[in-house]
Amino acid sequence: MSTDAAPRTNSAPASPFPTDDPVLRLIGDTPLISYPGTDRGRVLCKLETENPTRSMKDRIAMGILSEALADGEYDTVVEASSGNTAGAVAFVANRLGADCKLACPDSTSRQKIGYMKAFGAEVHECPSDVESGHPDHYRSVAQRLAEEEGAFLVDQYHNQSNPGVHYQWTGPEIWGQGGDRMTHLVGAMGTGGILSGSARYVQEQAAAAGRDVTVIGVDAKQSNISTAFYGKEPVPYDTEVEGLGKGGDLPTMWFDYIDEMRDVADERAFTQARTSAQEHGLLIGPSAGAALSVALDISEEQPDATVVTIICDGGEQYFDTLFGV
Ligand SMILES: Cc1ncc(COP(=O)(O)O)c(C=O)c1O
Repeated sequence: MSTDAAPRTNSAPASPFPTDDPVLRLIGDTPLISYPGTDRGRVLCKLETENPTRSMKDRIAMGILSEALADGEYDTVVEASSGNTAGAVAFVANRLGADCKLACPDSTSRQKIGYMKAFGAEVHECPSDVESGHPDHYRSVAQRLAEEEGAFLVDQYHNQSNPGVHYQWTGPEIWGQGGDRMTHLVGAMGTGGILSGSARYVQEQAAAAGRDVTVIGVDAKQSNISTAFYGKEPVPYDTEVEGLGKGGDLPTMWFDYIDEMRDVADERAFTQARTSAQEHGLLIGPSAGAALSVALDISEEQPDATVVTIICDGGEQYFDTLFGV
């Protein structure tokens, strides 16, 4: 397929998933801007909010589905997700002409279910109070739907193309936009996909240039990505920050490319997201608030640092929890 799209930012490498579809071409090529709340250029924000469904998950949906649907073997796609991945899969499946079935917990926010339904997906809301492994758990339901339909299961929790797409796409963009000056890369982890893939690319390029970039993963306080990373005892998993943290490690977390983990309390993540909007006009979600608060800590601790932080999604999906609307 050919593409003649001019890049939105002048420095973006071509998309590794070229398409002639005018809507899908809006994915990626997101801006890297200075965070207005610090000295200009010391904290840089990679605005994944500029993707069509307002999160970085559009990239994995595009990368994974364009390859899975290419040979015509599947006409239906299925995913289990309580968050941005579901909306992104619904959006990309719509443009690629596939049916889409999604299983999510019934605690999923109305805004996120809105994205799924807006693009015509069939949504299965599953009880949120059942343990993983229970037949009614949303991941079991997705598994069953995929088997019954002979459908393609995206499986962002195990699919190596999740970090792989970010290695091919987000990492090169970050390096092209900030590689000449970045000393640190900071990002929230859930499946670990965006930070792992981006970090691998950035670390490889930095090593080739004879430089060091320190990669810092951000976890919730009551979560077990950090405990797995440092080989510590697990803690009870409990966070209100959507997308941040996990009950344990996953194969999509490429710890080899991560140097350090820091934990952020829920209240700090929410407060930072509010401050970003109210004082600086940048509407971001709470997981981005968590990552941004760590990026600001590093810029305080190290006056010569230039910290790139990933803004995974926008605040409009959290108007209720962030601003009481
Ligand atoms: C809002 C938000 N922030 C952060 C993350 C973590 O991204 P990843 O799964 O690539 O680690 C997610 C993923 O679900 C998310 O939806």
